[in-house]
Amino acid sequence: MRVEVIVLAAGQGRRMHSDLPKVLHPLAGRPLIAHVLRTVAELAPDAIRIVYGHGGEALRAALTGESCRWVHQTERLGTGHAVGLALSDVDDTAHVLVLYGDVPLVRADTLRALISTDADPLRLSLLTARLEYPSGYGRILRDANGQVTGIVEERDATQSQRTVNEINTGILAAGAGHLKRWLAQVTNHNAQREYYLTDVVSIAGAEGAPIHTVHAPTNEEILGVNSREDLALLERIVQRRRANALMRRGVTIIDPARVDIRGDIDVGRDCVLDVNVVLEGSITLGDRVTVGPNNVIREASLGDDVTIHPNCVVEHAQIAGGCSIGPFARIRPGALLGREVHVGNFVEIKNSELAQGVKANHLSYVGDSTVGRNTNIGAGVITCNYDGAHKHRTEIGDDVFIGSNCQLVAPVKISDGATVGAGSTIVNDVPAQALAVSRARQRHISRWRRPKKDT
Ligand code: UD1
Ligand code: CA
Repeated sequence: MRVEVIVLAAGQGRRMHSDLPKVLHPLAGRPLIAHVLRTVAELAPDAIRIVYGHGGEALRAALTGESCRWVHQTERLGTGHAVGLALSDVDDTAHVLVLYGDVPLVRADTLRALISTDADPLRLSLLTARLEYPSGYGRILRDANGQVTGIVEERDATQSQRTVNEINTGILAAGAGHLKRWLAQVTNHNAQREYYLTDVVSIAGAEGAPIHTVHAPTNEEILGVNSREDLALLERIVQRRRANALMRRGVTIIDPARVDIRGDIDVGRDCVLDVNVVLEGSITLGDRVTVGPNNVIREASLGDDVTIHPNCVVEHAQIAGGCSIGPFARIRPGALLGREVHVGNFVEIKNSELAQGVKANHLSYVGDSTVGRNTNIGAGVITCNYDGAHKHRTEIGDDVFIGSNCQLVAPVKISDGATVGAGSTIVNDVPAQALAVSRARQRHISRWRRPKKDT
């Protein structure tokens, strides 16, 4: 059976007070609608249609690479109208699942329960929930036998209907041909002058179609985003889920309320994440990786036994086993650190390869460089990689010792075993095993008298 998904996303999200279309607001680092599409991908439907209104260009741009069809709803005439538009070129024999771009936490298993392939083809399935405070939602109406007879929107409901706490999540599934026929009978004679998708329930019921309800296993799943407060609430829910998942895989998280995971994390055993760690993009942590407080790590892989001390930013970098980074280090894109490299405080590494055992412990900038094994980079060493127009490379061999406060003016090469005296400015290549010193010689003026203040 052909399964097609329709995602409604034409709302402007007035209560967000935003120039960004609501469904593009990020939740855990990805647009709201991207969460929905990721869940949809688990169902592997035959087609996905997105109904959009405002901000269509931004929406398409944000979702390039998603294989979906776009349906433009120029006027927001209601959920029934939106689904009707999307259905116009769906084959009648297909089974259709209607989702919402601003309801991002619904799970694939819950949706699978709605689209049963062996059910009566006339069946209409609704995802419902019981809420302690149902206000704002459409209410599910049932007869004396418990059969669903319709859905009434809050604004159209009587006092007694409003006391019903079984609500419509909006998510439903039905055969495309039947849904088209039912929608054709929907009118906009209601408080909002809209074509309500929910009206198909009473129409289908009157036709004798079986109305089936599925209860969401948790009410978290059906939460929608209407305001930035909702967004913050959902963010904590997602973060808590992700922290729990990492803990189940053997990561110690000192405080799950103070870690933010905005990407896909692959972890080994016995890693520790301290407070205020932000992990973005795809990240791989080996075994026994320790990430101290206040660290931002983005698109990086960290080998076994790596320690990131507090207050570092690591992005687009590969850090091999046993490295020690920080505190207060900045590891920038293109940094490739071999095993047991030590990078200390106020050190910046960019687009550079540091071989096994390199130490750069204090106050240095290493950019566009290659550094050989066991080389020591003293405090305050700067690779001068930029001449104002172009970037140049610095090549440093194995077992090189660079004294403190040196400038290495690229392009320049310092060969294996060389030593550079502290305070040198190196503009010429240094041969292997040589000592290079370029600072002025020290001289003494004896019996020097310091100036005195006039009295
Ligand atoms: C809808 C349901 C209500 C349910 C609630 C769950 C209807 C009539 N009511 O109400 O029973 O309890 O969702 O949250 O369906 N949209 C379009 N085009 C339109 C109108 C809406 O794409 O013309 C999209 C919106 O972007 C939104 C979704 O459909 O994502 C729901 O629309 P909204 O106006 O928020 O419906 P509710 O009044 O919340
Ligand atoms: Ca809504």
